[in-house]
Amino acid sequence: MTQAVTSQVVILDYGSQYTQLITRRVREVEVYSILLPGDATFKRVFEENNPTAIILSGGPNSVHVKGAPSVPDGFWEECEKRQIPVLGICYGMQLIVHCLGGKVEGLGKGEFGRMPVVDIPTHTKLFDEDIEPQNVWMSHGDEATVLPDGFKCIGKSEQGCVVAIEHETKNLFGLQYHPEVTHSEKGMRTLKHFLFNIAKCERSWSMANVLEEQIQIVKEKVGETNHVICALSGGVDSCVAATLVHRAIGDRLHCCFVDNGLLRYKEAERVMEMFKNELHLPVDCVDITEKMLSELKGVSDPEKKRKIIGKEFIECFKEYKKTVEKKTGVVPKFLVQGTLYPDVIESCPPPGSDQKHSHTIKSHHNVGGLPKELGFELIEPLRVLFKDEVRRLGKIMDVPRNFVARHPFPGPGLAVRILGDVTENNALETLRLVDEIYINAIKEFGLYDEIWQAFAVHLPIKSVGVQGDQRSHSHVVGLRAITSNDGMTADWYPFEPKFLQEVSNRITNQVRAVNRVVYDITSKPPSTIEWE
Ligand code: XMP
Repeated sequence: MTQAVTSQVVILDYGSQYTQLITRRVREVEVYSILLPGDATFKRVFEENNPTAIILSGGPNSVHVKGAPSVPDGFWEECEKRQIPVLGICYGMQLIVHCLGGKVEGLGKGEFGRMPVVDIPTHTKLFDEDIEPQNVWMSHGDEATVLPDGFKCIGKSEQGCVVAIEHETKNLFGLQYHPEVTHSEKGMRTLKHFLFNIAKCERSWSMANVLEEQIQIVKEKVGETNHVICALSGGVDSCVAATLVHRAIGDRLHCCFVDNGLLRYKEAERVMEMFKNELHLPVDCVDITEKMLSELKGVSDPEKKRKIIGKEFIECFKEYKKTVEKKTGVVPKFLVQGTLYPDVIESCPPPGSDQKHSHTIKSHHNVGGLPKELGFELIEPLRVLFKDEVRRLGKIMDVPRNFVARHPFPGPGLAVRILGDVTENNALETLRLVDEIYINAIKEFGLYDEIWQAFAVHLPIKSVGVQGDQRSHSHVVGLRAITSNDGMTADWYPFEPKFLQEVSNRITNQVRAVNRVVYDITSKPPSTIEWE
């Protein structure tokens, strides 16, 4: 448990797509929650994390299948001994039924989507008054057919399946539906009732507390004389992390912003100005454009591009370390990284993937990847936070709003948005202009905050068009806009035709090199967000 929180909810993850959402919902009501893999040991659950309440998540398995994930030995006894309330959701409820002597079966009915809960008795522990009628979000194949001793049914679906249970005397509860999704109308009310009235959790998770605590941790770790460096990417995470560390140790923090020649329109200027004028953070801008573009010349393979960019970045960083050493007379010992909670969660991998734990999926996305021989100790003040929490933290530190709400931008920059050789056909220049027009239009139409990420892609093909009464043979650009919670899955954004028409007109009128604009209507999976 972090020092500042007095209550902690442990969520055991059995692989549901909604598990991270449960964790966030609990945090939204200012109770700290952490996600542990469903196979976490007894010691990890109880001794290392001292839970105030436990939530068992949903998951794709069937409890009665051999090898299905379960709770560690001694789990129920320990919960009873320590009086820890347990709420099982979907698979979690079936686990309660199965482990405590009831029966769960797959009767081939299944219930998916929105439906009402009926037959809720007047006095229950889990529901506060007037909860009926309520529509909830269901997603299950198996169902509880026999309840264990001491349990009663406190809600059924229209089809007659048991969808809510509670123990007569112990604080054990189960919901077959998903209270954490917004389609479950009173789900949040039930979750809050469980947290505050049953588990007596205290609201001790706030960004103000996190800020204070992290500043203290950084101060202690760095000490009175050490120096720290931080690579700023122009993104929210590294900016918030650096601002926090600067508050802790002042000008012993040295920030470096690398202009790698693959940035957006006027990005380096804008970012540097913001750091200087609004955040008063000392930042050195290192321009490696020339070297980077000469290394990338003639390279089309996406992975090779990434490797070259990564290598150049490391070279640049080694030089920066020397610069700081020269300036201060001290070898900087620490490196700040904006690693977030989703990057470190060991949650259950998606069914069917070969991974043991899903955190491996995103390893290439961290600014990290800096080799060990650089010899830094890491400072990761955002390690326990989700992206929306980082944004809130940024806000309390007065990071300007337009910066905090920025869309993510990949480390390799426009290189993964120019298919093929980035140095050919003036592609960087063209893409910058197109992207600027597109993003400005999104802002003008008031859509920027609804979209997780939007960008243009330069395609390595030309098509025939008519521009100014003349036949043209110019470039095609693709536009992408997606909604997402964490970048792991995504949906394409359904712009109004009027918006697309306006953007397409602006682009083809203002960017001479482009005569065709297409819109990407693929979700992730099967696509990825970036095109390379
Ligand atoms: P994909 O394309 O994998 O992207 O669906 C998921 C999220 O990660 C970003 N991304 C990267 N970020 N280095 C980064 O720092 C990379 O190599 C990289 N590739 C993708 C992408 O913009 C999206 O937000």
